Amino acid sequence: MDKRVAVIGAGPSGLAQLRAFQSAASKGEKIPEVVCFEKQANWGGLWNYTWRTGLDQYGEPVHGSMYRYLWSNGPKEGLEFADYSFEEHFGKQIASYPPRAVLFDYIEGRVNKAGVRDWVRFESVVRLVTWDEKTKKFTVTVQDLPNDRCYTEEFDNVIVASGHFSTPNVPEFPGFDRFNGRILHAHDFRDAREFTGKDILVVGTSYSAEDIGSQCWKYGAKSITNCYRTAPMGFDWPENWEEKPLLERVDINTAIFKDGSTKHIDTIILCTGYKHHFPFLPDDLRLRTANRLATADLYKGVAYVHNPAIFYIGMQDQWFTFNMFDAQAWWARDVILGRIKLPGSKKELLADVEARVVGEDAGKDSYDAIRYQGEYVKELIAETDYPSFDVDGANQAFFEWKKHKSKGIMEFRNHSYRSVITGTMAPPHHTPWKDALDDSLESYLGEAKTAAAAE
Ligand SMILES: Cc1cc2nc3c(=O)[nH]c(=O)nc-3n(C[C@H](O)[C@H](O)[C@H](O)COP(=O)(O)OP(=O)(O)OC[C@H]3O[C@@H](n4cnc5c(N)ncnc54)[C@H](O)[C@@H]3O)c2cc1C
Ligand SMILES: NC(=O)c1ccc[n+]([C@@H]2O[C@H](COP(=O)([O-])OP(=O)(O)OC[C@H]3O[C@@H](n4cnc5c(N)ncnc54)[C@H](OP(=O)(O)O)[C@@H]3O)[C@@H](O)[C@H]2O)c1
Repeated sequence: MDKRVAVIGAGPSGLAQLRAFQSAASKGEKIPEVVCFEKQANWGGLWNYTWRTGLDQYGEPVHGSMYRYLWSNGPKEGLEFADYSFEEHFGKQIASYPPRAVLFDYIEGRVNKAGVRDWVRFESVVRLVTWDEKTKKFTVTVQDLPNDRCYTEEFDNVIVASGHFSTPNVPEFPGFDRFNGRILHAHDFRDAREFTGKDILVVGTSYSAEDIGSQCWKYGAKSITNCYRTAPMGFDWPENWEEKPLLERVDINTAIFKDGSTKHIDTIILCTGYKHHFPFLPDDLRLRTANRLATADLYKGVAYVHNPAIFYIGMQDQWFTFNMFDAQAWWARDVILGRIKLPGSKKELLADVEARVVGEDAGKDSYDAIRYQGEYVKELIAETDYPSFDVDGANQAFFEWKKHKSKGIMEFRNHSYRSVITGTMAPPHHTPWKDALDDSLESYLGEAKTAAAAE
């Protein structure tokens, strides 16, 4: 096969694509030459922690949005790779809410086993992708950062796996220019200990707001005030945490909210989400979508309807993550290998997009949203040889997780779930989340008791 495929990004989505091709090769299939361009010095995407914020050593925008002490916000049983279980990686079952370093180790374990590291060109940022309608090829312009050298190469297909939780959405509120304290977006949050003893205002009500507020609480912030645009999160928060309507303005160190109430504030953390941002793609190839389960313009959530030679992995809002990226990567691979045929007309491709939007909009609540994304994962898996797994069981883990959160927002990470890949129950973690201040892999695994030992 003389095809060439470019994969942009070596986070969980890009690595899923490499593993998908390697899996076909290991079964004797001829595969294209796959080249993955990764702007960071290591793989793992967001899970590759960096202390840096702003611009990196090359003047590139820092990709990382993860912070110290981040633990998985959903049960690991909802994201486990169907072809590489946690037990295979760690040699034992582990507790259900691993910290970042533990998940990084797991992500890396699968691709190390697959032997695909030399498919990745690190510290190589994709600057531009163009399409030539005559040759039916893409030209990819890349900058090799350490050697400060730009070059171009041609490819038959491009897989965009550059993530969409990295370019912050940063609203401004009146008075910000005269606030006597730090204002930052969640993207630049790194260490909750910076805010010990401080009065924190968290703007937003989604996962970053919930988790960054919780981190600050855990590491000793004096108070957390959280304001909402649409609706409060409504959990049973600790005593020094209150929810307020949206911020109206700031007067020096006083926050004034829409209901007229005020609060002294030292630091403002904008947990206001992210933008799908593809500065390397021209208008004809660039996905423009809201952060939702049914994205705009992607057939089967993967193939770009305006040019189905380019694919996007992981562009949906995410209940399912790693296993959904796998389902998409296996599917994109099979289109490229000619095993799956795309509909011939753009009308049919667009009809699929429209049907997905209608399907998502029909859901009433987050339980329906989880079911909806679970069905999507099932649909893709059924079309490829990705190992089938109990998606309904994963849904169930998410349902229980939601209930555990409602019962105790600072306790939900103490619960355990059953693996839908191996059937084994996770052991309880050795320390309740709120008391576990060390998030290292050694701490998480070293002292973790197995279920058997705990009995
Ligand atoms: C703070 C935070 C916490 C999260 N926690 C969880 C969690 O607990 N559980 C969970 O399942 N999910 C979590 N997520 C969701 C997360 O999106 C996925 O887990 C996963 O990282 C997405 O993988 P990805 O490969 O699509 O994107 P990313 O992980 O963002 O990786 C994209 C890669 O593309 C590279 N790249 C970007 N642009 C270029 C370019 N021009 N050229 C070359 N390379 C480029 C980047 O350097 C990066 O390595 C979290 C997200 C955030 C922001
Ligand atoms: N492991 C972890 O613990 C962890 C931690 C953090 C993040 N994450 C992940 O990171 C991803 C992104 O989550 P996210 O919370 O950053 O983004 P998000 O889910 O897109 O939520 C964005 C939030 O910002 C609010 N918002 C946007 N613009 C606003 C404005 N102008 N004024 C006020 N509020 C505004 C939205 O409010 P409305 O509801 O009003 O629109 C919403 O609450 C998710 O996949 C999440 O799971 C995980």
